[in-house]
Amino acid sequence: MNKTALITGITGQDGSYLAELLLEKGYMVHGVKRRASSFNTARIDHLYMDQHENHVNFKLHYGDLTDSTNIIRIIQEVQPDEIYNLGAMSHVKVSFDSPEYVANVDGMGTLRILEAVRILGLTEKTRIYQASTSELYGGLEENKNEKGFYDENSPFYPRSPYGVAKIYGFWITKNYREAYNMYACNGILFNHESPRRGETFVTRKITMATAAIALGKQECLYLGNMNALRDWGHAKDYVEAMWRILQQDVAEDYVIATGVTTSVRDFVELSFKEVGLNIRWEGEGVDEVGVLVEVDEDKYKEAVKFNEPSNLSTFQPSNLIGKQLIKVDPAYYRPTEVDLLLGDPTKSKTKLGWKPQYDLAGLVSEMVASDVEIVKKNFNAQWEHIVG
Ligand code: NAP
Ligand code: GDD
Repeated sequence: MNKTALITGITGQDGSYLAELLLEKGYMVHGVKRRASSFNTARIDHLYMDQHENHVNFKLHYGDLTDSTNIIRIIQEVQPDEIYNLGAMSHVKVSFDSPEYVANVDGMGTLRILEAVRILGLTEKTRIYQASTSELYGGLEENKNEKGFYDENSPFYPRSPYGVAKIYGFWITKNYREAYNMYACNGILFNHESPRRGETFVTRKITMATAAIALGKQECLYLGNMNALRDWGHAKDYVEAMWRILQQDVAEDYVIATGVTTSVRDFVELSFKEVGLNIRWEGEGVDEVGVLVEVDEDKYKEAVKFNEPSNLSTFQPSNLIGKQLIKVDPAYYRPTEVDLLLGDPTKSKTKLGWKPQYDLAGLVSEMVASDVEIVKKNFNAQWEHIVG
């Protein structure tokens, strides 16, 4: 018989890719979505089926991780074989503004899922995946392993209310596994991105600005700490790992990462290169700027498909040479920063047989191409800077 999965956070980046993957594998997929005053299902609209059709295999339930009665009712109704707890307030900087809310959703929300499964007597039937994070490590140099990476045995030192809330989620998942013999696992995932990434995370903020600047819709991109280093993978690869984590004989925690780290500054360069714009850095700290020094016209035309639609053709990127396209705004600095993340995926590669399909170049290329299309589609609309 086909399995049934319940996904919290189904409207988010990972939830949408995971739903696609599980549907491909023949699962009945249920998702929890929050009630919002405007539509928040853009990432999963293509999966939605008219509930009056036969063989419906995708169903959404209104719910919220802050409401235990609602979580219990949904789990009772769905009787899932697998729960993927992806729901969270997932923005690290915002967590400094809403620390109590984050503790409630990202920390207590995890407990509510585990307790619901226990209360409903589903501990033997239902396997649980908890969306843990590399933010748990906090980027402390001395906590890396002898190879210079963070792995499943590296100590934690969270550096934000988000990280602190997620560490509760991590430990309560491990505790329920040990105390009640539940199949409950943490995926300690390093940053993963895609064209569906939220616009206020740094990679998407950069690729959207790249597209908007290349099409003459934005003058400058403002960023915070460009020295930060992240281990960036593709979300499609990472949801495959989540599924594999729940298919093992024994429940365990796994690091999912690429094993390569890149600075925000280098990500900016790669992104602008995708549209033929070559950047040179000048100055330091808050005075650092990225200046356009050269336009590769062939690359630009290929990436921007200059003549479609024809009203774009008046913009000449070479007019921007010498302009400061990237500046620092200290408003984007965090009270405490995670300077470096670099994960060791040895365990997930050997035990789960997990093999990522994307590298950073492929990821950047896909994200920029997608954002160029978005900017072109909305060419006549007012273009706003992304704040985040
Ligand atoms: P995301 O795009 O921000 O999606 C978060 C999801 O959680 C959205 O569906 C959101 O609903 C939902 N949500 C927020 N508050 C909720 C609440 N109170 N009750 C129920 N649902 C709620 O995040 P993501 O990038 O897909 O990440 C998925 C999970 O993995 C998160 O738990 C994140 O913390 C964790 N994680 C992510 C990464 C990464 O690099 N992407 C790395 C490690 C761990 P709305 O659409 O209504 O806002
Ligand atoms: N968002 C943002 N905006 N970040 C910036 C900016 C900016 O303008 N400028 C520099 N950064 C730096 C941040 O200070 C951080 O060091 C790095 O870019 C990455 O920031 P985000 O993309 O916001 O991601 P994150 O690493 O803080 O958190 C993401 O990854 C975690 C896993 O390590 C989120 O997806 C978390 O939910 C996830 O747990």
